[in-house]
Amino acid sequence: MDTKIIRIKGQGETFSIEEDKALREAGEVLRRGGLVAFPTETVYGLGGNALNPESSRKIYAAKGRPSDNPLIVHIARMEDLARVAGQIPEAAMQLARAFWPGPLTMVLHKAQEVPYETTGGLDTVAVRMPSHPVARRLIFYGGGYVAAPSANLSGRPSPTSARYVKEDMGGRIDVIIDGGDGEIGLESTIVDLTVSPPQVLRPGYITREMLSGVLGQVSMDQTLLRADSGQAPRAPGMKYRHYAPKGELTIVSGQAGQVTAYINARAAEDEAGGHRVGVIATDEALPEYCADVVCSLGSRRDEEEIARRLYGILRRFDDEKVTRIYSECFDDTGLGQAIMNRLLKAAGHRLVILEDNLE
Ligand code: TXA
Ligand code: MG
Repeated sequence: MDTKIIRIKGQGETFSIEEDKALREAGEVLRRGGLVAFPTETVYGLGGNALNPESSRKIYAAKGRPSDNPLIVHIARMEDLARVAGQIPEAAMQLARAFWPGPLTMVLHKAQEVPYETTGGLDTVAVRMPSHPVARRLIFYGGGYVAAPSANLSGRPSPTSARYVKEDMGGRIDVIIDGGDGEIGLESTIVDLTVSPPQVLRPGYITREMLSGVLGQVSMDQTLLRADSGQAPRAPGMKYRHYAPKGELTIVSGQAGQVTAYINARAAEDEAGGHRVGVIATDEALPEYCADVVCSLGSRRDEEEIARRLYGILRRFDDEKVTRIYSECFDDTGLGQAIMNRLLKAAGHRLVILEDNLE
């Protein structure tokens, strides 16, 4: 299949006449049952018509994704929520007022019209109203309901730029809309409103504290915090080893100097053993490392930058064919919770805690 690439430079909500026409045409592709990858403020999505079971089947096929892993339905207008959600609890209205459009996905009871192909057989549906102007206009032109997982091949990091979408999806889908790099870089927060108290199923830019500020008590799916709980996470997709780089990733926690010394020692050992070694560093410690490929996520003080760069660096390590990767560890608070969640998953929960850190 020939994949058409459309570039949209539009600033804010303003698009040129040509850009608007291109988005209208991409919307037509969605209405006819085709697949269009598009930018959102989190990561790129692989969109199909959420109300058409055939489109959802095509999404699973293009991604190589198990079809029990439900898709997020993206909407562009508040009034469209009622068609996909069977009930809209007051909590959903409160969260929508506070965080939509934006990087928050809510799990609600599904309306009959949403096919089980879209929800992976569940009676609930995940809904999000993204803030990215290209996403919003495409959803509107595409008929209002766009099912979109992240636009990566299953098992690869979510794409934060159109270049990565092309790598994974080129030749497999109808259209890729290139709208620049994702502002946030990690997937949306998912909160389940069908349970009481509401529960975070996937941490993201909207933190549990922010949700609690609106709703009061909000819990966290406990399986996300521990590798050894023996239970499946409640968001079916969280059980797969997503975001996995090809090299074996280990996260190292401890005092700054200790961490660099430990990583350098391991890197030297691995290199002597024939490995190509990558290090995920921060600006503060960057000059201290000695390994084949050393990449910085930015300053330790700038969590937003770290979130934005993480997936790109994991992909870069795949391209560099490193076979062992060591990463610094981050605080597990605020946005750090989402960063550590993705890092730990990519590492298959391989975490080394250096002794002195325990005191
Ligand atoms: O930021 C995002 O959310 C991006 C952009 C494109 O919007 N999308 C995204 O979709 O990350 P995906 O398919 O890669 O991740 C969706 C996650 C999966 O872990 C899935 O299991 C979970 O949402 N999910 C979807 N519907 C659900 C439901 N009804 N109940 C529980 N979890 C659900
Ligand atoms: Mg994904």
